[in-house]
Amino acid sequence: MADDIILETRNLRREFGALVAVNNVSVRVKAGSFHSIIGPNGAGKTTFFNLLSGTLKPTAGQVFFKGKEITHLPVHRAVHLGIGRSFQITNLFPNLTVMENIRLACQAMGRDNFRLFRSHRAFRQYEERAWEIMGKVGLQDKALMLARALPHGDQRKLELGMILAPDPQLLLLDEPTAGMASEQVPELIALIREIQTSGKKTIILVEHNMNVVMRVSDTITVMHYGEVLAEGTPAEISANETVQKAYLGALYE
Ligand SMILES: Nc1ncnc2c1ncn2[C@@H]1O[C@H](COP(=O)(O)OP(=O)(O)O)[C@@H](O)[C@H]1O
Ligand SMILES: [Mg+2]
Repeated sequence: MADDIILETRNLRREFGALVAVNNVSVRVKAGSFHSIIGPNGAGKTTFFNLLSGTLKPTAGQVFFKGKEITHLPVHRAVHLGIGRSFQITNLFPNLTVMENIRLACQAMGRDNFRLFRSHRAFRQYEERAWEIMGKVGLQDKALMLARALPHGDQRKLELGMILAPDPQLLLLDEPTAGMASEQVPELIALIREIQTSGKKTIILVEHNMNVVMRVSDTITVMHYGEVLAEGTPAEISANETVQKAYLGALYE
């Protein structure tokens, strides 16, 4: 596996009974890149993410992260190696503050070195780390607000903060803008871009908003019926006739 490939799948497959949700998917993701996955509802995008993060086990095929096979690792091991993911369903503790949510995420998924510290000192460490992360996602001034009282856009930022807690190298973001008012989308996307470039992180994004995808992606993989229909730069995907005919029109709506 080439050094610049951070994540690779080989012939990844997942069946649910008779349904093949992910079918023979081989994808390579370049380190430091912004790689989007698009496709209609039911195309297998979320299932694919679940296979990458270890949430689901594949029926067949392999997943490699930084050259190491991680196909059968449990989620917490994948997190430890540097894979962070969001879920379509929100993961926040609604009755805790922003600060507490992020601090808990730091504690729950803390890196090894945090374990060396005990009680009070550990708490301080987590709190400092939580402040740092709140700064990254622009929520320091809302640190003491309850998560449930945040506007939707800020809840999405908080989720992003929680994913950042264990300092992942690869972020899997499954429709982070879902349900957001369209005028809030550019800000969240800009934030994700900032996290990618300043933190030298790799982003894999599932996103419905084609304008966003075309603007920010280095590479786009188009999925349909569990398979990879096409892959390329935004320009290549825009110009791809199969994609054009079958999906892009519908996706832009
Ligand atoms: N846990 C599951 N059990 C059975 N079928 C599932 C399960 N998860 C997903 N599917 C099915 O797999 C297909 C792909 O779903 P999904 O990965 O959620 O697609 P997408 O995220 O692209 O909308 C769909 O037909 C969906 O109904
Ligand atoms: Mg999905």
